[in-house]
Amino acid sequence: MQPVKIINTVKEMQEHSDLMIRQGKSIALIPTMGFLHEGHLSLMKEGSRHADHLVVSIFVNPTQFGQGEDLEAYPKNFNRDMELCKKKRVDVIFKPDAPELYPENFQTYITLEKLPNHLCGLSRPVHFKGVATIVAKLFNIVKPDIAVFGQKDFQQLAVIKQMVSDLHMTVKVIGAPIIREADGLAMSSRNTYLTPEKRPAALSIFESLNNAKQLIKDGVTDSNIIIKKARDIVNFHGDTEIDYISICDPETLGNVRNIKKSVLMAVAVKVGKTRLIDNMVLSP
Ligand code: PAJ
Repeated sequence: MQPVKIINTVKEMQEHSDLMIRQGKSIALIPTMGFLHEGHLSLMKEGSRHADHLVVSIFVNPTQFGQGEDLEAYPKNFNRDMELCKKKRVDVIFKPDAPELYPENFQTYITLEKLPNHLCGLSRPVHFKGVATIVAKLFNIVKPDIAVFGQKDFQQLAVIKQMVSDLHMTVKVIGAPIIREADGLAMSSRNTYLTPEKRPAALSIFESLNNAKQLIKDGVTDSNIIIKKARDIVNFHGDTEIDYISICDPETLGNVRNIKKSVLMAVAVKVGKTRLIDNMVLSP
């Protein structure tokens, strides 16, 4: 297996990328928070299809976690992550610590005016400010030609595409499909929090999306009817707390009442203490 280079500082990462660029190599960046799973690995595969040099960043970004969220508890296993990266022929793992990226006098953030006013942004008010800021920083540090993000975090992908467009960044952002467990649960580092007893409740999210797909196929166009049914499916299990179930415009993320063209159905549910999200694009 080829060795993977581990870089911990901004300066070394920038110098390494400058060297790659001078050598005429294109760079793909896969930003992650570690505790890698097949979803992350699919992004790496996509990245290596588009560029010569593959960089994976592993950084649990404190600024995107609100108070009372799972920043401290976020799962970690760097040795396992490193082995998985080697198998995927990752060239560099960029793994800075928090003071490296947020020194004491740090004070510049990126905020978007509209996209965060929907879905996850409503219950996680600082989240997308933290995401946009860290991703912009990673783009400036790694200097990638392309960066790959999962459609699992649909709103995050929309925020990043908007930021890249608004700030005239030259990186090409690629969205990659949701990877699921065999039973349909969308893969997530947070799935490790789920005990076997919580599994059926977690699976109700995918079930509610599939049910919506079928209803739309059957000709239902009223979002309220579809959302009510989805709520019933998720509420059937004890220990679930719906944050939102929304049918919205895939571009603006604004609610759609009457379905005439493709819509995004997005779901966020707390199963016990674990917050899970999933989504599906549905076409009439
Ligand atoms: P993280 O949750 O580690 O996810 C890293 C990337 O993997 C994101 O682009 C996410 O959408 C993608 N991903 C996660 N689960 C997936 C799945 N089941 N199928 C396909 N892709 C999946 O998202 C973040 O980290 C952070 O917010 C980050 C962008 C790194 C900024 O801190």
